[in-house]
Amino acid sequence: MKILILNGPNLNLLGKREEKFYGREDFEKILEELKGHFPEMEIDYFQSNSEGAIVDRIQQTADERFQGIVLNAAAYSHYSIAIRDAIAAMQIPVVEVHLSNIYAREPFRHVSVISAVCAGTITGFGKDSYRMALEWFGYHQMGKIGFTKR
Ligand code: DQA
Repeated sequence: MKILILNGPNLNLLGKREEKFYGREDFEKILEELKGHFPEMEIDYFQSNSEGAIVDRIQQTADERFQGIVLNAAAYSHYSIAIRDAIAAMQIPVVEVHLSNIYAREPFRHVSVISAVCAGTITGFGKDSYRMALEWFGYHQMGKIGFTKR
C-alpha cells in the first residue's frame, strides 16, 4: 500500500516550535518511527509552506498509484478552499490529521474547511494522530471496515 504523508506550513519547524502543542521531535524522527510501525507500507513524505505546492502534490498522487493521503494542512486547514477543492477532486481517501486538538485552541482553529471532503479527521494525539491515520489505511486495505469517499 502506497501512502503519502503531506505536511503543510511550519511543520518543518517541529521540534523547535511551540513544544506544548507540537512536542519535541522533528518530523524526520517521527517519520522514521512511522515507517518502523508499518513496514508493509510504502510511505512517501512531502512538506511545503506554500499552498500551491500542496495542491500540486495532491493532484500528482493521481498519476503515482497512491492509495491514500495523510494530510496535516496545518494553518491552511482553516481557510484553504484551494486545498479543499484538490482533495474533493481526488479519487483516493484523504485522512486529515492534527498534532494538537484544534477544538481545544483558539476559535479560528475550530473550523476546518477540509474536513467535509476528507474520509475522517484525527486531532489531538500528537504524533499518534499520524499513526492512527495509517492504521486506518491498513484496516481499510484489509477490508475490515467500510469506507465511503465523501
Ligand atoms: C496543526 C494545527 C493548526 O491549527 C496549526 O496552524 C498548525 C498545526 C496541528 O497539527 O496541530 O500549524 O495542524
